[in-house]
Formats: sequence, structure tokens, C-alpha cells
Amino acid sequence: MSFRAIEWNNDTSILRLVDQKLLPQTTCFVDLRTADEVASAIADMTVRGAPAIGVAAAFGMVMTARKDESLAFHLLQNAMAAADSTLRASRPTAVNLFWALDRMKVAWSGAVTSAALVDATVHTALSIEADDIAVNRAISRHAMQVVPEGEAVFFHHCNTGSLATVDLGTALGIIRTAHEGGRKVFAYLDETRPRLQGAKLSSFELMQYGVPHAIVVDGASAHIMRTRKVDLVVVGCDRVAANGDTANKIGTYNLALAAKDNGVPFYVAAPSSTIDLDTTDGDAIHIEERDSREITEINGVAIAPIGAPAVNPAFDVTPARLITGIITEFGIVSPPFTTSLRAVLKR
Ligand code: MRU
Repeated sequence: MSFRAIEWNNDTSILRLVDQKLLPQTTCFVDLRTADEVASAIADMTVRGAPAIGVAAAFGMVMTARKDESLAFHLLQNAMAAADSTLRASRPTAVNLFWALDRMKVAWSGAVTSAALVDATVHTALSIEADDIAVNRAISRHAMQVVPEGEAVFFHHCNTGSLATVDLGTALGIIRTAHEGGRKVFAYLDETRPRLQGAKLSSFELMQYGVPHAIVVDGASAHIMRTRKVDLVVVGCDRVAANGDTANKIGTYNLALAAKDNGVPFYVAAPSSTIDLDTTDGDAIHIEERDSREITEINGVAIAPIGAPAVNPAFDVTPARLITGIITEFGIVSPPFTTSLRAVLKR
């Protein structure tokens, strides 16, 4: 793509985001200067995707550190704690947000002077940003082991590409990497109701990379897998529990069931920052519920009867038993995940 979804200017302390609510029709950038603005942008999904919101939150902490550096040290620490709480409250399911804020907290709470606090937060945020790119490249590299050599037909859910990360992405990055590596690639992108990240964002990315693909409605996945060639499903994740149960965009569980019934391998691309060994299983993952108007309206236009009730869980949990492998930056982790995830994180 000709731009990054998330770009930090270290001279001005401004975080520039592409407003993902407006893509693909409008490419509009917003400049954020405070942690409150970052928290709002995460909550309203101007920025979205588990890795991207973690990186955005890290820079939100840097903004606070730099803005309040001249305060007495204890007041600066209070401001950092307040920003940390505000950012943690922005979205509940993606663990990358909390992982990034935990890393930032080690940096700012361990400092003993204001200058050291600012230095440590800047250094940590920049390394979270740089690591994201390196991790995504490693995920794609490992994934090539399970991508068929000849023609590879993928099924993909939501948006897990450059827009959801600092660059390249996870599951969509695998599709792009296979294409750029010279393999013959085709991808079915489900539209991903209600916010249509598949139709709006993943298709936008694949058009730019020249990857052959087709958008299908969410309900078509089982039919497509039963009647056409699909070699593998690749999805991203927002939190992987210690037993391998995986929270991802609503509809992932349906896709995994369809894959199981049709003998299609189902892979989850997961940076290790998404693996949460403190959460024992999927039942313990907090699933975000969003405004029901995301279902009853499209782009602000009502599509259901005015006042019709709707229930809008933004994520679901795919049980570990439906997952063929979890592709991390350290390699592909196979069942039983209870032991294999711990082993990979030790690295
Ligand atoms: O609600 P969103 O659009 O932030 O949800 C995004 C997803 O569920 C992605 O699959 C996940 O965050 C992985 S992005 C690499």
C-alpha cells in the first residue's frame, strides 16, 4: 500500500492514522496528539486490528510522557497511570492492547526521573512498533510450509493485513507473501458482517497488491468449501487462551466448523503477543459487545425496522479442537496446544 495505517512522527509526537471507518471510498488521515484521542480512535475503530491497537496505545503513552514531562515527577507518574487506565478501557478483547500497555508500564513505572521516563517510553514504543513488522514477516515465512506449492486457494476472514498491523499483517500477510513469492494464489474473502472488514478492507488491500480474490457473503463459506477447491483457511486472532481456544472476529467459529466438516485445514496466525497463558480457556475471554446499530444500519442508513432489537458480539471463540495449527513468529504450533503454546513462548 502507498501508506501505513499507523504512523508515528517522533519529532512532533503526532500519531497519524488512516481512518479505517471511511475506507475504501475515502482515504482520510487523522492526527492524534493525546492518549484520550488515541483511546477514542481505538474505541470507535478508526484504528482496528489487534496488533495495530496495541501499537497505537503504546504511542498514546509516549504522548502523555512528553506532554507532562515538565510536571513534578509524582504528577507525571499519576498522568501516566491515568492514561494507562483510559487506554485499557478502550476495547476489551484483543490482548495485544494489554500486552503493549504492560510493556509500556514496565518502562514508565521503573524510571526514577522524568527524563528517564520519557526516554524509556519512547524506546519501548518504538521497539513494539518495529517488532510488529519483524514478527509478521516471520509468521509469513513459517506459513509457507503449509501453503501448497502449485495453486493455493485461501479462505480469509475479517481484515488481518497491513491495515490491522504496522505493516504486512498476519493471515492476509501470508496470502500476500505467497503471491509475491510467485505462487498462484486465489483468496475468498468473506465480507465479515457487521462492519464488513473483509469486503471493505481486505479486498482494498488485495486489489493494491494484485492478488486474485473474490468477496463472498459470510453465509457462503460452508457452500464454497463443499463445492469448490479451498486449500486452507487462514484467520487472525485477538487472544489465544492457554489451551488454544482462540477469540477472533465474530464468524470465525462458523468458518472453523465449516472447515472441519469439509476437511479444510484451519490455521490461526498469531503473533506471540496475542497468546495469553493467563487465560486458561475461551470461556474466560471477555467478548466485546458493540452498539446494535452496527447491525441495523449500514454506513448510517437503517436496513432493519426502526427500533428493531439486535445483539452484537464483536468476537467469538473458536475451540482449540477445530484448529489445525497456530502460526507464530517462532514456527507453527500443533495440538495439543496446552503444551505446545507454553513451549513456543519459552523461546
Ligand atoms: O474488530 P476488529 O476489526 O478490530 O477485529 C479484528 C480481528 O478480529 C482480526 O482478525 C484480529 O484483530 C487480528 S488482526 C492481525
